[in-house]
Amino acid sequence: MTSESLSDNEIELVKNSWDVVKKDGKHFGNQLFIDFFTKHPTYQQNFKSLANIPLSELGSSKRLLAHTTGVMYALTSLVDNLDDTEVVVEMLAKTGDNHRRRRLDVRAFDELGVVFIDLLRTALGANVLDGQLLNAWSKTYSLIVAHIKTAFQ
Ligand code: HEM
Repeated sequence: MTSESLSDNEIELVKNSWDVVKKDGKHFGNQLFIDFFTKHPTYQQNFKSLANIPLSELGSSKRLLAHTTGVMYALTSLVDNLDDTEVVVEMLAKTGDNHRRRRLDVRAFDELGVVFIDLLRTALGANVLDGQLLNAWSKTYSLIVAHIKTAFQ
């Protein structure tokens, strides 16, 4: 485990800011994958149902929405349970296992993280995603990825 654990205050900050993001969760989730595929086009090919949809049409695709809705629910469950590390670890072991079977390049998780934090900055505002909140989210994402990667080892 490389990631540091989160303090109660950091968990509170992450939960409160995720409540804001969730209000426009469909847009956030779709934009996350559009930004991810724009920056790293090869990863779109990992998604069988999305691989052949041109980027310009992805935003209005119900297939993308179906996928991002699942990812957003998964992220919400993780955020909701941040104060119970054992539950989070169990959830991520499953996510890690499902993703390992897909033969993904493990670096994709770090690359998605960069896109995720950039999008959080856009969604919340650079003045809101300040030092403390940014640090709390970086720790949260690192924790998620560290546990997913365990399944790849
Ligand atoms: C924090 C990171 C991530 C979370 C929480 C997450 C979560 C999920 C969830 C909940 C699903 C649907 C349920 C399932 O089939 O397992 C899914 C599917 C999938 N994920 Fe991820 N994912 C993450 C990162 C990634 C990354 C970096 C990739 C790399 C390209 C990826 C590739 C896929 C693929 C290919 C599918 C199957 C899509 C389909 O054909 O339906 N995921 N993910």
